Amino acid sequence: MKIITSPKEMKEFSAKSRAEGKKIALVPTMGALHDGHLSLVDKARSLADVVVVSIFVNPTQFGPNEDYDKYPRQLDADAQKCTEHSADVIFAPSPQDIYAPDASTFVNEVQISQNLCGKSRPKHFRGVTTVVTILFNIVKPDFGVFGEKDAQQVSIIERMVRDLFMDVKIVRSPIVREANGLALSSRNKYMTQLEHDGATRIRRSLLEGKALVDGGCTNIDRIKALVINSVTDAKTRVIYVDVVDAKTSLPVSELDVGNCRICIAVWYGQTRLIDNIII
Ligand code: PAJ
Repeated sequence: MKIITSPKEMKEFSAKSRAEGKKIALVPTMGALHDGHLSLVDKARSLADVVVVSIFVNPTQFGPNEDYDKYPRQLDADAQKCTEHSADVIFAPSPQDIYAPDASTFVNEVQISQNLCGKSRPKHFRGVTTVVTILFNIVKPDFGVFGEKDAQQVSIIERMVRDLFMDVKIVRSPIVREANGLALSSRNKYMTQLEHDGATRIRRSLLEGKALVDGGCTNIDRIKALVINSVTDAKTRVIYVDVVDAKTSLPVSELDVGNCRICIAVWYGQTRLIDNIII
């Protein structure tokens, strides 16, 4: 497996692969890879001849008081995992490689980005769509693989690709969880063992919401109230609980059973966690 840091070298590698008739799949990540990320690498491996994993902690998607500085960076361990999962290339540029000092161009999706995480993280999705466009322009993949853990993010990327006629197929991959139900996240590292155990209530609250729907309830306010009530303990501060369209992540006024999703974001202690479930 190769580690490439220079965008120019990455472009040349991709151009050569394409000239040889190979299909390329890109898995964009911010590193600190866990089994959730690696499931995307496996999915990419099943789709394409060449698998590129980008590892870039993207400064433009973090707010001024967020965790950019303390976000875990562990390229050696990540490289080991990517090798084990048969990736071909890690693309790990530095911020200076990606953003010119006077960079002044952004890609901005303005509808889906307004809801859910967009409300509490202004400019976050603008940073995501901008960097994903840059990564697509450098790697020029046939496939871009994204996790449903970040359901709103993948909806926004799909919208961007459609709206801007980008030549890449977006592939969704399911959420990978610990045995106790907690969705894997690089940010789980911030939690103590006790918090870790407590955070399993997030998944349980979603399952309770789903059980209510499975029992015949279609009242969105009741579903949301149950989830909020069930997730709340002394350590939890709910950021949002919302019911959205499963594909677009846009708000719905009526429940369309099977095609909706409960999305949740909470502060659990000092850690911001998100999760979701199809209902
Ligand atoms: P990051 O949080 O590192 O996640 C990279 C990819 O892994 C995303 O597509 C995310 O949805 C997926 N992922 C994370 N945890 C997962 C889990 N438990 N199960 C399945 N997939 C999971 O998302 C980002 O980075 C960034 O915003 C990025 C797209 C790389 C742009 O900077």
